[in-house]
Amino acid sequence: MVDILKTVLIISSITGALAYLLSLANKTIGNYGEKKMVINEEYDYVVDGGDTLLTALIDNEIFIPSACGGKGSCGYCKVKVNDGGGRFLPTEAGYVSKAEQEEGIRLSCQLKVKEDIQIEIDEELFNVKQYDYDINFITDVTPKIKHLRVQLPDDNEISFKPGQYIQILTPKYKGNREEVYRAYSIASAPKDNRNLELFIGYIPNGICTTYVHQHLTPNDKITIVGPYGDFFYQHSDREMVMVAIGTGMAPIMSILKYMRDEHIDRKVTFYFGARTREDLYMMEELETLTKELPRFRLITCLSRPTEACNWDGEKGRVTDLIEKYLDNGPECEAYLCGSPVMIDSVTPLLQEKGIPEEHIFYDKFE
Ligand code: FES
Repeated sequence: MVDILKTVLIISSITGALAYLLSLANKTIGNYGEKKMVINEEYDYVVDGGDTLLTALIDNEIFIPSACGGKGSCGYCKVKVNDGGGRFLPTEAGYVSKAEQEEGIRLSCQLKVKEDIQIEIDEELFNVKQYDYDINFITDVTPKIKHLRVQLPDDNEISFKPGQYIQILTPKYKGNREEVYRAYSIASAPKDNRNLELFIGYIPNGICTTYVHQHLTPNDKITIVGPYGDFFYQHSDREMVMVAIGTGMAPIMSILKYMRDEHIDRKVTFYFGARTREDLYMMEELETLTKELPRFRLITCLSRPTEACNWDGEKGRVTDLIEKYLDNGPECEAYLCGSPVMIDSVTPLLQEKGIPEEHIFYDKFE
């Protein structure tokens, strides 16, 4: 009996000592003290060594795109590191090409700040801020798409370019154990700078879409970071060709409303594709815009109309519409928004029709 007690005591002592050593190691290993982060050779920050570069930036309220919330699975959080980045990591390889590696591009969510670091980011990212919005309304516009309008409290305003996007910070909820950011294009006009409108399509098991479709209520607040993106209205005199399917309508709406508010008179044709009649939405608003913008034409098509659709409009895909109607390619510029499949099939067609590559702008909804 005494022997057993002795053995238990020895094992407990060893376990206790190991636990103490482990906690000591946790506190010391990975603690690199304070480090200096210099951005664009101009702005200095003191950051906690051992944190990822993404965390160091967020701690200083610099919000670079990070759709996967730092898991290394979206490739959005690229930053140019001029000095102090350490060795390139295998976890970055899937998203950073060889050419980018040579330029010093790194995935900021993977790289840990272990020494003073010098980086470059787009100056525009200093305008990106985090806002807590009130919900104005949330309604179904199709069986799978919600129209969300949010409002900034007090006198806060957000400034963005028509066509840009924001990220929603999705909180933890039953079935989701982590906070993640997800990107959505803004559908409202920049002039309406206290509000944002978004179209959010439901994706089965999608973390943010499930949150918006099944958990968000009009009494909640929603945290939004933005604006982001280099897809936005270009000032020129070229005729405009717009192509979208599904929630890809959002940035097109923002651009059209901007043109209305700024009294911009350009010839615009918007080709919008949906499967069935119940997938068409915002049609009244678009009809109103055809009256407010004198040279705006809307052409919709259904790819899978049923008897119940009672549809005598265009049938087929947006590519069929472009084949049929686009006849002035060399004088046009194009704005495409939607799935990668749609954009990859429309882009070569537009080029065949004569639209120069440098005048084709797109926003792929991955
Ligand atoms: S935040 Fe997604 S890869 Fe870094």
